[in-house]
Amino acid sequence: MRKFLIAAGARPNFIKIAPLIHELRRDDNGVAWKLIHTGQHYDYEMSEAFFDEFDLPKPDYFLNVGPGSHAEQTARIMIEFEKICLEERPDVVIVVGDVNSTLACSLTAKKLNIKVAHIEAGLRSGDMAMAEEINRIATDSISDYLFVTEKSGIANLRREGKREEQIIFTGNIMIDTLYYCLKKLETLSVEKIADPPYAVLTLHRPSNVDNKFKLEDILRAMVEISRDIPLYFPVHPRTKGNMEKFHLNNLLENTNISVLPPLPYLAFLSLWKDAALVLTDSGGIQEETTALGVACFTIRDNTERPITVEEGTNLLIGTTGGKILRAYDDFKRGLQKASRIPDLWDGRTAKRIVDRLLVG
Ligand code: UD1
Repeated sequence: MRKFLIAAGARPNFIKIAPLIHELRRDDNGVAWKLIHTGQHYDYEMSEAFFDEFDLPKPDYFLNVGPGSHAEQTARIMIEFEKICLEERPDVVIVVGDVNSTLACSLTAKKLNIKVAHIEAGLRSGDMAMAEEINRIATDSISDYLFVTEKSGIANLRREGKREEQIIFTGNIMIDTLYYCLKKLETLSVEKIADPPYAVLTLHRPSNVDNKFKLEDILRAMVEISRDIPLYFPVHPRTKGNMEKFHLNNLLENTNISVLPPLPYLAFLSLWKDAALVLTDSGGIQEETTALGVACFTIRDNTERPITVEEGTNLLIGTTGGKILRAYDDFKRGLQKASRIPDLWDGRTAKRIVDRLLVG
């Protein structure tokens, strides 16, 4: 019997493994699998809440690595994950996305001669100052199966010399979860946080939030926008810590910005799906807003997900207060872009991935 180990560690990982696990549980397809949670994210809001919402089983292993520098976190995951690989001897280790857990688990598996499948392969921002870009390139360079979400990924992997049979265009697994949860929302009563019209903000990239002047500039622009439209802001732990450290909390007091804790997936979805505009520096939210046709401003200078700009609702607006406000002025004047849903973002990606993995 073939055996898969599925590794996940951070909030965006849980969103991507959920459809895979649903698919593997669906029928008796002759595969044994186990789920490993590295513990990179550990707060209830960043981790456990997602397991409940996505109807995921308790992980078979919890590595409890917690926070640390990149080297510490990556190393701790590798040491613990190696023990599990040696004990379980899987045929394939499945990793998703671009976080430190992705790199740590793929590297560990490959060095034990275990095949690696990377879901969300081939994305490139071209920005080597991003930890995620390093994780993407390193993971793809040693993966055996490269499951790609959008056509730019195919081109990037070809350019990097990957063999055609390794590059497998299966669509976007995050969108499977999005559709699953939209359905769930129809039957669940999730408390409404806001009445339209409003906008939603998320911020957590180190390049935007780790520097006081940068973060202050962005937040001041948000205060300006909130004079026009109420803003809802679920704050990532990294950003929360920095706002405290830089004494920026008072900036948002007595404004039209509602500061919220990190939200569970369903509560967040029910908030952003009805937003007039989402402002974010996240990777996944660029894709999710495109799938539902919600206008998205990405507070970055580059994106590894260019299809969301070419075909979707996403606009790369830069990271200075001045640029953000100019983009908002255009938006207010009705300059919204036409969009379509990219190919194979149809809610059936997990099935295509599992079908391919079962072929061997
Ligand atoms: C990580 C990922 C990023 C992803 C993001 C989503 C890497 C390199 N980055 O960034 O790609 O978009 O997750 O959230 O893997 N913290 C808590 N509670 C938690 C988790 C983190 O308080 O449950 C704190 C940590 O202690 C740390 C900070 O938040 O101080 C950042 O966490 P970390 O996992 O290092 O990176 P993220 O910024 O979350």
